[in-house]
Amino acid sequence: MLISTDVDRAVEVIRAGGLVAIPTETVYGLAADATNAAAVKRIFEVKGRPVDHPLIVHLASADQIDGWASSVPPTARRLIEVAWPGPLTIILPRADGVLDEVTGSLDTVALRVPAHPSASELLERVGVGLAAPSANRFGAVSPTSAEHVFHDLGDRLDPARDLILDGGSCPIGVESTIVDFVNDPPQVLRAGGVPVEDIRRLLDGVLANASGPSRASGMLASHYAPSCEVRLVDDADDAFARRARTPNSEILDLTDDLVAYAHDLYARLRDADARGVGTVIAVMPAPNGLGHAIRDRLLKAAAPRPD
Ligand code: TXA
Ligand code: MG
Repeated sequence: MLISTDVDRAVEVIRAGGLVAIPTETVYGLAADATNAAAVKRIFEVKGRPVDHPLIVHLASADQIDGWASSVPPTARRLIEVAWPGPLTIILPRADGVLDEVTGSLDTVALRVPAHPSASELLERVGVGLAAPSANRFGAVSPTSAEHVFHDLGDRLDPARDLILDGGSCPIGVESTIVDFVNDPPQVLRAGGVPVEDIRRLLDGVLANASGPSRASGMLASHYAPSCEVRLVDDADDAFARRARTPNSEILDLTDDLVAYAHDLYARLRDADARGVGTVIAVMPAPNGLGHAIRDRLLKAAAPRPD
């Protein structure tokens, strides 16, 4: 069976160089031993992801950071003390020996300590970092359940050597916030589960704007996209008006509960695809708290797509 709740089996799979789709508090990741180049290469094959897109290394605790980063600025230490384990990824200069397959040959590395009991247990038991992108096909909506992973990658994974570790539905539902500490001041590269307002407060307000050429693939204009068309509107009235003139459309509006909006966003888009909905009319949340991440993902889902 490809889907299982058996952490013992997940440990075996990682040790044997296989792939384990892991539940995290944000979305499911497709994990391999980050010190095993052949295993990491298979992540890219299975996802259909360009090999120069770097991966996040997931760690059991902040104590492991020195094996991966050559230096850690005090500002980064301050942030991770508060935010780890949790939905925060930090970019640091990489340590010697970190595989090019993991970093996309960059001289930096992305690190995160996830907060999910199954992922934490697996990370502690294997004792190595786990390189993992979101466990979706490249460009598609991230998976927030084991069934989503199976839908996307079930026919590309090998039940004899891979596993989807079922940890239920991901509590947050959008990816981690990525903060780049290589440049000074630090810069948010991707809005995510930790609100940018919290990060700014913890860093005493010193944070660069997320502008300029992006170095995170999640910042491609079109990404996180379902098959259906996504149209964005500012409020419920606009949504009703647009639905009235759009055949086979439905409204997505959880703006009165941003936690629920983040949690349900990807599942709702996937479900619309499964039901053959032509157009999802999504109401944009206000730009604060989790609203930043939800707006970012909706904008990407609605962006013009490459042919
Ligand atoms: O919540 C998350 O972050 C999930 C879970 C599984 O941890 N992971 C995730 O991974 O969203 P992925 O690969 O789908 O997105 C990670 C982003 C990519 O846009 C990648 O380009 C960027 O992080 N990234 C990774 N390493 C980087 C680096 N050294 N410098 C800049 N960006 C980096
Ligand atoms: Mg992704």
